[in-house]
Amino acid sequence: MGDVSPFNPRELGLKVTVGDMLQIAAAFGETMNAGLANEPSSLKMLPSFLRKPSGTECGEFLAVDFGGTNIRVQKVHLAGQGRWEIKDSQAVPLKNLVAGYDVTAATADAMELFDFVANQIGKLAEINTPYYLGHTFSFPCHQHGIHQAELISWTKEIKTAGVEGQDIGQLLTSALKRRGLNHITPCAIINDTVGTLLTGAYVDTKTDIGAICGTGHNTCYYDSVRDTIINMESGNFDLLPMNAYDFQLDATSDNPKTQRLEKMVAGYYLGELVRLVGKEFMSLPAIPYALTSEDVARIISGEISRHPEIAALEPRELVVLKEIGTCMVERSLKLVTASFLGVLGRIDPKLKRPHTIVIDGSLYEKMPGYASGLVASLKEVLGNQGDKLTIKLSKDGSGVGAAIAAAIVAGAQE
Ligand code: BGC
Repeated sequence: MGDVSPFNPRELGLKVTVGDMLQIAAAFGETMNAGLANEPSSLKMLPSFLRKPSGTECGEFLAVDFGGTNIRVQKVHLAGQGRWEIKDSQAVPLKNLVAGYDVTAATADAMELFDFVANQIGKLAEINTPYYLGHTFSFPCHQHGIHQAELISWTKEIKTAGVEGQDIGQLLTSALKRRGLNHITPCAIINDTVGTLLTGAYVDTKTDIGAICGTGHNTCYYDSVRDTIINMESGNFDLLPMNAYDFQLDATSDNPKTQRLEKMVAGYYLGELVRLVGKEFMSLPAIPYALTSEDVARIISGEISRHPEIAALEPRELVVLKEIGTCMVERSLKLVTASFLGVLGRIDPKLKRPHTIVIDGSLYEKMPGYASGLVASLKEVLGNQGDKLTIKLSKDGSGVGAAIAAAIVAGAQE
């Protein structure tokens, strides 16, 4: 290859400044207001019908986590006083081409998908034990009650036919009946962000923001005026400084013009963004989405790539690729920071109280520099005021949160 052209992140629209973060945060807050007032808004602001837990919820529950990559079924024991134990846990991928199935493809339908889910539940549940089941379903749903959730539209490139517009609670209940699992009572459907917040608040009452930074991205918060947790579906926020690569990625995605923030920050898209920018400077794998966020993590930490094209790059090209990866990760965490600032500006503009923000997801947990960068950028904007914030990883939020939601519905308290 010839010379690597100088990579200029600012010129390519990859830098997010403090000024940008403040501007995005203000726009985010206004968009929240519009969504809450039922005005046109890219933030759906979906009520969960759940308050914060008291921490005294207890008992044994089944939890199903349907996030888009795997289906995980867990038996969760809530012990009260913010303690729990995961007694059993099994996960299977929704798509396994070697085993010859893909229940997320357009050729699969709702019945096939939910029979698959019910089957996994059947493997874990004991036959003669009655269970309440909480279901984490990590997609935008209009909730009409804690156990009535109508899927608005798929995200994260899932395509299963006949699920959009349907009641997820009904689909799972029917599938469990078809399989003869009448001793299992599904009683709560929650978003994964809500599960994360519930799990955080079970231990720490100051928790009022829950987010996922993983394959997908989204944030929820506790609205004290409405006394409910609101799933913002913030991945769809769209008042953002998009660059040419963002437009390119969006145009070829399954759902163009939607999930703009998610497409700029989430793990599903990060590798592709790095590939799109990087191939301007060097030769990279030609297949769209050939690079995953794990590849980006390897590039940033200087590990040898599993892609022959990357392994064959010259050292100076690898330096540029690393810079692109780092820039993309930094942009992701700064945009997420801006959205948190938007929420804080709405729920406590003068930061009079301490707040705990709980986050789950592979990007936050595993991407080098992500978690520390998020804290640093919040501090960069807020200065000393930033000391009022605690930002924590909340692992297992999807499963434990579903159990907490089921316990709230079942009225199971210490
Ligand atoms: C979905 C959200 C979900 C997020 C994280 C997004 O694609 O729309 O409902 O919370 O992914 O899993």
